Amino acid sequence: MFVIHASPPVVQVNSNYLKLKAGYLFPEISRRVQAFSASNSNTDLIRLGIGDVTEPLPSACLEAMKAAIDEMGTSSGFHGYGPEQGYAWLREVIAKNDFQDNGCDVSAEEIFVSDGSKCDSSNILDILGEGNIIAVTDPVYPVYVDSNVMAGRTGKAGSSGQYSGLFYLPLSEENGFQAQLPEEHVDLIYLCFPNNPTGAVASKEQLKRWVDYAHQNHSLILFDAAYEAFIQDEELPHSIYEVDGARDCAIEFRSFSKKAGFTGTRCAFTVIPKTLKGKAANGDLVDLWSLWNRRQSTKFNGVSYIVQRGAEAIYSRQGKQQVRNLVSFYMENARIIRQQLHNAGLKVYGGEHAPYVWTSVPKGMNSWDFFDHLLEKANVVGTPGSGFGAAGEGYFRFSAFNTRENVEMAMQRIADI
Ligand code: MLT
Repeated sequence: MFVIHASPPVVQVNSNYLKLKAGYLFPEISRRVQAFSASNSNTDLIRLGIGDVTEPLPSACLEAMKAAIDEMGTSSGFHGYGPEQGYAWLREVIAKNDFQDNGCDVSAEEIFVSDGSKCDSSNILDILGEGNIIAVTDPVYPVYVDSNVMAGRTGKAGSSGQYSGLFYLPLSEENGFQAQLPEEHVDLIYLCFPNNPTGAVASKEQLKRWVDYAHQNHSLILFDAAYEAFIQDEELPHSIYEVDGARDCAIEFRSFSKKAGFTGTRCAFTVIPKTLKGKAANGDLVDLWSLWNRRQSTKFNGVSYIVQRGAEAIYSRQGKQQVRNLVSFYMENARIIRQQLHNAGLKVYGGEHAPYVWTSVPKGMNSWDFFDHLLEKANVVGTPGSGFGAAGEGYFRFSAFNTRENVEMAMQRIADI
């Protein structure tokens, strides 16, 4: 006989999760798209919403991964657990090509290979104290905010959707989608350049102002450079470490997802300079590298050997050329999107050094209205700006990641409504 216990479960949940807004932005979009598709089964939707790549992996990566699979099938070439920080041969090519060749003082030891910048930019909170004052832009990549909410670093969301306890730096057309330096002290500053979602970029002078602020305030900059490969202007910095002094105040996140088509394959890395310090509760200075190394060694078993061999091939002569071709392909999509949306009468931003085009929405509509309008009338999926924060209301984001045919068709459909 079964005994049914009527008593409620006793395990406690992390109540911080209950402060989160209904859904993470992209699953919420999928939910609406699925609901639309369920009642419009014959429509051919074009997805310019989530920034997920569509072109095949560069052949250099593919060949390297195939060779690595073959190695894994032999006794001599088999690999079990790899180093939690990533294989030295990958960390070395990254340090040389992405940093040292551009004059940045970053060593292979300071690179931590991982399975994604989304994970790293959330997990970094593990090694940072609860009392930090945290600054984020608005609009912002939602992961920075939600991971802080989950970790209990915020209060509740107010009616605008902004969380108490976070220091918001508004981005707007008026400030060129460049956050102003906070007038008060903040400890942690999330910056993303080229920016997701606005596509804005920062000059070296602009980054220097942030580095100077961080030095004056003993703050830490969490610099997300996941889209650096899309920068077209040689004068623009790809890394915050191009600015003197950034080694002492910044962590940088990089990703192979968008530049080399690794969204499904998963490989990224984070740079933690050995010179970075934080403060323990007793006031002692502690180096962040050691804490992150400890965190990764405990909670992460590394990226697979096969995928790391694929990532290494990005830095081969053919790999570099194939990545340039891939980036050019998506940037041509961005150019088409910019042009056509401009022709359709929308104000257009970004899309010149980033795979995201940020636009105003037509008068009389809010961001979700425009989402529904495009979905229903053009069968095109984009991302409502308000999903990136209260200050994103009135804006909309188009991703340039799709086939040329789909981008052209989407723009034609939008022109026709
Ligand atoms: C986006 O669309 O903003 C990106 O795909 C998100 C991500 O890279 O996690």
